[in-house]
Amino acid sequence: MNVLVRCLGMIVFITVLAGLVLLIGELIWYRLPAGTARRPGYGAGHLKRIALITGAGSGLGRAYARRIDRRVAKIDEIWLVGRREDRLQETADLLRKPVRCLALDLTKPESITSIRNEIHKEKIRVSFLVNCAGAGRTGLTKALPVREQIRMIELNCSAVVALTDVCLPYMQEGDHILNVCSSAAFQPLQRLNVYASTKAFLLRYTRALRHELLPDKIMVTAVCPYWIKDTEFIKKTEENNKEEIHSYPLASMVSSVAALSLVGCRLGLPVVTPGIVCTAHRIFSGLIPDVVLQYIWEGIRRL
Ligand SMILES: NC(=O)c1ccc[n+]([C@@H]2O[C@H](COP(=O)([O-])OP(=O)(O)OC[C@H]3O[C@@H](n4cnc5c(N)ncnc54)[C@H](OP(=O)(O)O)[C@@H]3O)[C@@H](O)[C@H]2O)c1
Repeated sequence: MNVLVRCLGMIVFITVLAGLVLLIGELIWYRLPAGTARRPGYGAGHLKRIALITGAGSGLGRAYARRIDRRVAKIDEIWLVGRREDRLQETADLLRKPVRCLALDLTKPESITSIRNEIHKEKIRVSFLVNCAGAGRTGLTKALPVREQIRMIELNCSAVVALTDVCLPYMQEGDHILNVCSSAAFQPLQRLNVYASTKAFLLRYTRALRHELLPDKIMVTAVCPYWIKDTEFIKKTEENNKEEIHSYPLASMVSSVAALSLVGCRLGLPVVTPGIVCTAHRIFSGLIPDVVLQYIWEGIRRL
């Protein structure tokens, strides 16, 4: 028994150590002198460097726009995407750098085509792609209109895949992709089922994309926040279904989520959990079986 416990401890120790060594190796690789990446870079002359931010008319997307505007010197122009033009304009008014507002519904294929055309028209380098637009819905799966369920998949998954495809040819060594997932990605969540499933997809997609783009030194980061109380998200998510989740204990603030996740993203971390609750959730979801986690969630949602 003693030997078995020691062996198990050894295996855990070695895997954690291997994870750390590999992560440090990746972070060093990103910082090796410019020009060591596989991708030669495209185009000649000066390229306008843009940050393309979806969901930029409110909440976390707006906070990212403000921080990138002030703290990322290499960006020449910020492109803001969302459906409500007035909200994008409000964000634009807060920024110092030149801004372009694209009022588009990302669940529509023609919106993706329109972004593709805009990027293709100019000499552009997409230095920052922030996929932040997202939507959730609480409720029993059988009670939610299927159109709403599919819309979540289209926005939280398909639009991110499509935008990545649009932007990647215009990205180079040192550029960033930041995909806003959620701590909902860490386990199955009944009564938030489709939303949590879309974020689980996005987390896996982001991690694999990061690995594929390592040779190109394009840094890809998944951000997995816990509930954020000062955005429109919770209100919209529980619309018509206020009884499903009774409270949001220890919910975080958008400014700290944006700040921590941008630091992690610029460092080149694969996953950022910007807060204590989501970090604990990430650790425990790797140790506790899903069936147990689901009963814990059942308790939390009834608090
Ligand atoms: N708040 C939380 O508790 C929480 C926790 C974990 C993860 N997240 C994630 O954080 C991200 C940002 O959410 P938030 O908290 O900042 O909430 P939010 O204020 O509701 O932001 C969502 C943004 O997405 C945009 N959007 C929605 N549908 C769209 C569509 N079809 N096409 C284009 N844009 C669309 C919205 O703008 P328009 O309505 O103008 O289109 C809005 O600006 C989401 O991906 C969410 O899943 C949030």
